[in-house]
Amino acid sequence: MIEARGLTKLFHHKKRGQIRAVDNVDFRCEPGRIFGLLGVNGAGKTTCLRLLATILGPTSGTASVNGFDIVAAPEKVRASIGFLSTATALYGRLTAFEVVEYFGRLHGMADSVLHPRIDALFQALAMNEFRDRRCDRLSTGMKQKTSIARTLVHDPPVMIFDEPTLGLDVLTARTVLGFIRECGQRGKTVIFSTHVMSEVEKLCDSIAIIHGGRILAEGDLAQLRARTGVESLEDIFIRVVEEHA
Ligand SMILES: Nc1ncnc2c1ncn2[C@@H]1O[C@H](COP(=O)(O)OP(=O)(O)OP(=O)(O)O)[C@@H](O)[C@H]1O
Ligand SMILES: [Mg+2]
Repeated sequence: MIEARGLTKLFHHKKRGQIRAVDNVDFRCEPGRIFGLLGVNGAGKTTCLRLLATILGPTSGTASVNGFDIVAAPEKVRASIGFLSTATALYGRLTAFEVVEYFGRLHGMADSVLHPRIDALFQALAMNEFRDRRCDRLSTGMKQKTSIARTLVHDPPVMIFDEPTLGLDVLTARTVLGFIRECGQRGKTVIFSTHVMSEVEKLCDSIAIIHGGRILAEGDLAQLRARTGVESLEDIFIRVVEEHA
């Protein structure tokens, strides 16, 4: 479970002044459900997820992740999550398998647990074809899958994905989204950010529209349709953003 309460992050720019990157945000992501954070470039998605992952500290407000407060118990939060950022790095000289194995060992996993887990991940993400290829020879999509596997190797209860399909082709994106759906079905708490409406429409049990750091609307697709009177998520999105302009 993730619960944000009044979560706020301000940045100070010399030229732009004070920026409310995340502005008094409240939401709940329940286990077994996929929560989508939908917003345009600069809306505050990454900042919000970095707060949840305790990479940044909030200016005010807080959130609990898997029962732990991000301010009071950040190390407990970090042990409960897998966080895929858009800057997740791989070691070029290691193979896909070796990278995932390395991170599993960092998490203290015994080989008897780790190796079946790696097999399951490589199967679910269709990675076996490049299992023993060095990371610096992988394509964008292969790298992204490897990053996802290394992020989730310890099978954390809470999974946080920042734009997991960025730069992926339709087939690879479909594999990744299918994998995220399965994580939800296995009872994980899943939050992911995107600006792609169709992904959210297909995958999310709960949707939050974030704009200018604020959550302007939240609910499932039926609730958002009822609220706006329009059908497609794109129309819903535009209507909600225009209402607040
Ligand atoms: N480390 C930082 N220092 C200063 N300002 C920042 C920092 N990180 C983000 N911002 C600002 O906060 C706002 C929200 O940025 P954020 O990266 O969270 O948006 P985003 O929704 O992830 O956008 P994108 O879709 O482009 O990834 C932007 O105005 C951005 O310039
Ligand atoms: Mg971002």
